Amino acid sequence: MEDAMLQLPKAELHLHIEGTLEPELMMELAQKNHVSLPYDSVDAIRQAYQFTDLQSFLDIYYAGAAVLQDESDFTSLTWAYLLKCKEDNVVHTEIFFDPQTHTARGIAFETVLSGITTALKRGEDELGISSKLILCFLRHLSEEEAMKTLDQALPYKDQIIGVGLDSSELGNPPEKFQRVFARAIEEGFIPVAHAGEEGDVSYITGALNLLHVKRIDHGVQCIHDEALMDRLVKERIPLTVCPLSNIKLRVFDTMAEHNILQLLDRGLAVTVNSDDPAYFGGYINENFAAMRRSLRMNDQQLKQLAINSFEASFLEPEKKAYWI
Ligand code: HPA
Ligand code: ZN
Repeated sequence: MEDAMLQLPKAELHLHIEGTLEPELMMELAQKNHVSLPYDSVDAIRQAYQFTDLQSFLDIYYAGAAVLQDESDFTSLTWAYLLKCKEDNVVHTEIFFDPQTHTARGIAFETVLSGITTALKRGEDELGISSKLILCFLRHLSEEEAMKTLDQALPYKDQIIGVGLDSSELGNPPEKFQRVFARAIEEGFIPVAHAGEEGDVSYITGALNLLHVKRIDHGVQCIHDEALMDRLVKERIPLTVCPLSNIKLRVFDTMAEHNILQLLDRGLAVTVNSDDPAYFGGYINENFAAMRRSLRMNDQQLKQLAINSFEASFLEPEKKAYWI
């Protein structure tokens, strides 16, 4: 990307590692692992990425993840993402992973975790990129299954900074996971949750009041509630916004209608993130570039968004201070 402003150092705070599976790697791993795909070429995979809403994406995304089988596959996936970070000058990243997507297929929790962390360590050593991991519970599955996943994570507490909540939002409100989050907090995990992507403001207030989250993932529906926006400003609860994702999943019809700069100018701690970049048309700088094209974002706003990304991160205070 030739724009010098886009080379500002930044942090990414909303990124599903399974959502960085590019069609080329999907094909390669399908062949290696003898997994059959309903596509016969990389182009055919890309062609299939036409979504009408969150669920239509999730169906394809979970099917694609089936090519990830052994530890080295998770390392390849994560390493490829870190190389993208390097290109976009993402110097710190907080990565979501969905263990249930894999354990349901008979892949061990440890295989997933150690595959990812091998790449993260190499990213720190060779690329100078720091990282944290956040375990997401799949909200379309039961509370009991989430609790079981939390149990599996306990021996690896030192490698996982937080817990989150993703997958189908509508019909799976925060209260379904209140007990799981209470226990995760007791165990020292930092809570975050997807809320207010497709769901209305009650999903955001539920995440705040019942799950005690420190950040809201997406959260763009807060614009419909002035009192909630006041609270988010006052309590400095960041929103990890994902502009290209919101267009692809039809949360907004066009980028020109996206509310991210309105929320920023209203004083909310909004950040820019890529969510599932292999599926939504690009990594973090492509998100900034699309905003620049359609939203008349100026350099000051871009700079503020980069600063917000570090402020909203779970980096240690001295590391935060270094980047701000
Ligand atoms: N929303 C909910 N679940 C998800 C997403 C998302 O944007 N990406 C991956 N899982
Ligand atoms: Zn997400």
